[in-house]
Amino acid sequence: MSSNANKAAWISAPKATPLEVGPAPMPTPQGTEVTIQIHSVALNPADPVVQRLAILLEPKDYPFILGCDMAGTVVAVGPSSTFKPGERVIALAASWGRKDPKYGAFQLYALADTPFLTKIPDNVSFNEGCVLGLGLTTAAYALFNPDTLALDLPKPGGNAPNGKIVLVWGGASSVGACGIQAAKAAGYTIASTASARNFELLREMGVEYMFDYSSATVIDDIVAALKGKGEMAGIFSAIGKPETLVQCAAVIQRLEGRQHVATVRPPGFPAVENWPEGVEISNNASSHMKSEVSGAVWGAWLEGALRDGSMKCRPKYEVVGKGLEAVQDAMDLMSKGVSAKKLVVEFI
Ligand SMILES: NC(=O)c1ccc[n+]([C@@H]2O[C@H](COP(=O)([O-])OP(=O)(O)OC[C@H]3O[C@@H](n4cnc5c(N)ncnc54)[C@H](OP(=O)(O)O)[C@@H]3O)[C@@H](O)[C@H]2O)c1
Repeated sequence: MSSNANKAAWISAPKATPLEVGPAPMPTPQGTEVTIQIHSVALNPADPVVQRLAILLEPKDYPFILGCDMAGTVVAVGPSSTFKPGERVIALAASWGRKDPKYGAFQLYALADTPFLTKIPDNVSFNEGCVLGLGLTTAAYALFNPDTLALDLPKPGGNAPNGKIVLVWGGASSVGACGIQAAKAAGYTIASTASARNFELLREMGVEYMFDYSSATVIDDIVAALKGKGEMAGIFSAIGKPETLVQCAAVIQRLEGRQHVATVRPPGFPAVENWPEGVEISNNASSHMKSEVSGAVWGAWLEGALRDGSMKCRPKYEVVGKGLEAVQDAMDLMSKGVSAKKLVVEFI
């Protein structure tokens, strides 16, 4: 690995477009970090939003390397890492949180660190595995953190069914698909909403009760189907729109159990108007995730669940380009929105 082998798709300044491909420093892993040679990256809605609106970063942070989801091969390890060169891994890229481009996914070699780093078994390709990083992390925060739904954590091999129900609103989204599967592994019965064309995806992930969110009667339909079927453990809305959250509140108020809607809204977002008294609502910040949650999900459960197929890399990926030069077009596609799909760019 020569020291000048790294290249990145840089964002040169706030709101700059297109990304510019150019040399990047070869990162050196410290402590428990690893350097990953990235094979595949997946796009998230936040990637083009950060580019367009220049949020999350200060002007002094530029030039910068964006990108949250990566899969690749470990090529170097820090002195305290338990990983080994040659291992196939996925990771949540943490460049925003650390304000450091060395951790961004849109480069050939990036740093990653525990806890948001795990090996992938041979039955999972890089294109499949790269779709999980931000989706799973966001879902895990909403489902398991003590200040959100605080559900039972999934144990390796999965928990026995506990009879409690979780409604995941937006099950065909990346965050929702990860949320469905993680909550199911933790022993919960899953209800979910999606467009009817995506019900097969929900079924494949083990959803028991499915609802079309575009139906005018969706709230009544959910209440009628779930009433008397078990205690609600709460609702996770993978969709942050206020009108969707108000629908979630209307559902939970009419059912027995935990009156809590966990959301994907980042901390500091304005309160949802007309929020009913007696229903809790929580925002979502993976940087505040408790180590017992990340350790249980990313550390103890995920690799085995990928191996035994109980955790599927969903929504399915679609390769939309090859090489760093393709990242900007993928960002532009992402900003138009997707249905039950992860956009992936291959670097190798
Ligand atoms: N706070 C955080 O740290 C954090 C992190 C990651 C993501 N997020 C946010 O979480 C949200 C989801 O992200 P993502 O990556 O999962 O998005 P995504 O995969 O791009 O979401 C697309 C899916 O959303 C579904 N959808 C749209 N409106 C819906 C509605 N009203 N009800 C039910 N489903 C609906 C669509 O379902 P159909 O195709 O079935 O219609 C579509 O498949 C985004 O708003 C994102 O910004 C927050």
